[in-house]
Amino acid sequence: MKIVLLGPPGAGKGTQAKFISEKYSIPHISTGDIFRKNISEKTPLGVKAKSYLDAGKLVPDEVTIDIVKDRLSMKDCKNGFLLDGFPRTVNQAEALDLFLNGKGEQIDTALLIDVPKELILERMTGRRVCPSCGASYHIKFNPTKVKGKCDACGADVIQRKDDTESTVKDRLDVYGKQTQPLIGYYEKQNQLSKVDGTGEIDKVFERVINVLGAVGK
Ligand code: AP5
Ligand code: MG
Ligand code: ZN
Repeated sequence: MKIVLLGPPGAGKGTQAKFISEKYSIPHISTGDIFRKNISEKTPLGVKAKSYLDAGKLVPDEVTIDIVKDRLSMKDCKNGFLLDGFPRTVNQAEALDLFLNGKGEQIDTALLIDVPKELILERMTGRRVCPSCGASYHIKFNPTKVKGKCDACGADVIQRKDDTESTVKDRLDVYGKQTQPLIGYYEKQNQLSKVDGTGEIDKVFERVINVLGAVGK
């Protein structure tokens, strides 16, 4: 399966991506995670990306597109992949289509996780993430089993720097202007599928499996 996950910040893309990538044995590729890893390791890419992430702005397309192409060229993407947080602009979506078409391939679906704006702020400000394996938690909706420690790998979970109320608002604004047009883009290509992202995490996953099962047929 070749899947693109769409949805506003805080929709649960990263949360569902963990389950989907396990179920379908495909790599979970999150551009946000790639940027954060590079920032924490202070690589040249990290130095370039940091100010954009801190401000909730998009890293320029010319940087982001090449990173994803390189990643998709790796062996583990041969049987499929799950893109989380990419594409985020129409330009990125076109570049992805071109890249895949060049190999005679295309995505199976762009899956939109639909969550109303009102729910997002609480999800984001209560989020804790694992800097080591990328797992996502929530102090109220999805707490770690041991306080402050990642269930999957035991590392200390942290709060993302861009999860403050004002940066979340900026990110939602960027989403509306630059990313939301992708819904129409994929709809036009008959590649859009949608799930309701409200309710409990495992209920959302059930809906995701149903939708992906229908796509796979
Ligand atoms: P990125 O890391 O992609 O952030 P985002 O899109 O803003 O999305 P989030 O990771 O915030 O939300 P999510 O949907 O993954 O939600 P999660 O599952 O964690 O990007 C960060 C930055 O990197 C961007 O601002 C930009 O600067 C840069 N960037 C990345 N990609 C780029 C690109 N392609 N081009 C240019 N720049 C790029 O869930 C959120 C919280 O809710 C968690 O606490 C979770 O536990 C909780 N939760 C999840 N599901 C539920 C549920 N059903 N009920 C209750 N709580 C839930
Ligand atoms: Mg995420
Ligand atoms: Zn972890």
